[in-house]
Amino acid sequence: MHFSCDFFMDSLVVLSSVCMEKVPKGSNVKNWSSQEMNGYIFIWYHTDPTEIPWELPLSTEELKTKYFYHGHNEFYIHCHIQEIPENGSDIAHFNAIHKESLIDGIWATKKFSFNRCGYHHWKARWFPTPGKLKHLAEVHLNHTLELFGKIYCFRMDVCGKQIGPSYVCLEINSLTFGELKIFQYITPIEPLLQKVVHQFYGPRWMGPLMKIFIYGESLMFERDINIWNNKIFNRNPILAKEDASIKKFRIWFSQFYTSNSKPYSEVNAGWWFPTPAKLKHLAEVHLHHTLELFGKFYIFRMDVCGKQIGPSYVCLEINSLTFGELKLFQYITPIEPLLQKVLHQFYGPRWMGPLMKIFIYGESLMIKKIFKPVPLIRN
Ligand SMILES: [Fe+2]
Repeated sequence: MHFSCDFFMDSLVVLSSVCMEKVPKGSNVKNWSSQEMNGYIFIWYHTDPTEIPWELPLSTEELKTKYFYHGHNEFYIHCHIQEIPENGSDIAHFNAIHKESLIDGIWATKKFSFNRCGYHHWKARWFPTPGKLKHLAEVHLNHTLELFGKIYCFRMDVCGKQIGPSYVCLEINSLTFGELKIFQYITPIEPLLQKVVHQFYGPRWMGPLMKIFIYGESLMFERDINIWNNKIFNRNPILAKEDASIKKFRIWFSQFYTSNSKPYSEVNAGWWFPTPAKLKHLAEVHLHHTLELFGKFYIFRMDVCGKQIGPSYVCLEINSLTFGELKLFQYITPIEPLLQKVLHQFYGPRWMGPLMKIFIYGESLMIKKIFKPVPLIRN
């Protein structure tokens, strides 16, 4: 997949739907370059029409002759797509986040301190592919499970091939599990909402063992999700020597943005959802807001849920760490066919008093920017 811009990319996007092979003659439909693989449709989506799609590697359909499909897991993550592959280049995080035993945190481990009996040890290396295949990168991992400080087992060698921002093929070699393959697909649902699917392939005999493996992988991945859901993107982080590959990753990933990429503020202008069935007079708009200061600080995060009730009434619920929970009501009164009176009412915690005045002033300025106000002429 190719993004082009500060926050939204263009390129090969994973979709899970059905498509027509040919566009019917006479229809005014755009023809998308696409490839179907293992129940997914990859669509080339790029701002620059001159960009040529890259080849996807071996189809997983061919793998079915050698491997058995054991299942998949699925997650929705509140972050930008760039954050997810960056995980592979964040070498230090493996032993920081994924070291504790998989059973850490469950009732039995809390009661009997079993988690102290097992640790996962990781050695990681990340590097981009130079030259014509520059859209590829690789992560190599060596894993060992330490039990009771004496036994070292479940050794695994993992080779992950990152193909653009949204697709990863992982090959796992292990004496315990044999040869496994995991495929990771990322589908951007919104600029800051990603759907991630992992598919698991391995020898048929592994059946019950593979279920434990998938469960373990899901628990490990949820540790990353907790961070992705809460982390703040720092454009110029202070990196230690051990974090050098994060810098390499960001340089590598920058190829998926172009000067024609839409800025985040534009693509995040609003997501509009029509409401089905009997409540068809309702619709919703969801907004995520962040204020960037000096290209370094990201503050005043707000999640806004706006309920449009018919053409003239909107209830906005605002959740923000800075302002707390606010409510804003919008009323539109048609004065003339092309002249509307718009009134906003603001509600929030009592303690917000002076801060709320700034908020109201800011909101008024924003509205003035969007709708150039026409002076109301009174007779
Ligand atoms: Fe991770």
